[in-house]
Amino acid sequence: MSNRPYYIAGNWKMHKTRAEAADLAKALVAQLKDGKHTYLAAPSFTALETVGAIIKGTNIRLGAQDCACEEQGAHTGEVSVLQLKDLGVQTIILGHSERRHTYQEDDALINKKVKLALQHGFEVILCVGEQLSEREAGKAEAVCETQTVKGLEGVSPADLSRIVIAYEPVWAIGTGKTATPEDADVIHAHIRKVIGRLYGGGAAEKLIIQYGGSVKPENAAQLMAKENIDGALVGGAALKAETFVPIALFA
Ligand code: PGA
Repeated sequence: MSNRPYYIAGNWKMHKTRAEAADLAKALVAQLKDGKHTYLAAPSFTALETVGAIIKGTNIRLGAQDCACEEQGAHTGEVSVLQLKDLGVQTIILGHSERRHTYQEDDALINKKVKLALQHGFEVILCVGEQLSEREAGKAEAVCETQTVKGLEGVSPADLSRIVIAYEPVWAIGTGKTATPEDADVIHAHIRKVIGRLYGGGAAEKLIIQYGGSVKPENAAQLMAKENIDGALVGGAALKAETFVPIALFA
């Protein structure tokens, strides 16, 4: 618990046609209209326009799940920040573990995307998190520290206000295994300490750090009760209003 606002984001990953995305977006608008926290929906690129039209003017921000590291040019299959801006996207999720580990994105590439997105006025959710072998080797804090430091290299103190960090232990994503609130809080506190070292205590105190990895209605409140956990980045449970809304409205 802190003075920081809670920020609950849904990462819809590679799910939903436009019609399905529209149904979910309409349900979220209706059911979150009195919600007190900050919300975000991040559908696939193909549904951004559809979802954007439905959530425009509501308390739900429009997020993209990635962007290209260049503004434009010969980059077959990539999507540019200029195109995302044109669709009304406000936030870009970068460095998601599926980008890091399935598509081999490294810290340097992620850092380039972070800087480009900030330069174009977006909010960025920078994801960090260790793999199981790294946790078992006692390296969870060090891995998250490196990903944070390298991901934010060259980011100015002024731009840090548009950065959100999502701690997502890779072994907890989509596996049903959640980090205990205590274990997650240790890493969140460490990330906050790293930000304090880089940007000062005031900036660290304001930084929103979301937890991600099998967040469900049953565990959201316990996670959110921790001092350093300021919200959630939700995958599987974000695909249905029945499971996302109770997380978003956690008591
Ligand atoms: P999950 O995904 O909630 O399905 O574990 C979280 C994420 O990858 O952002």
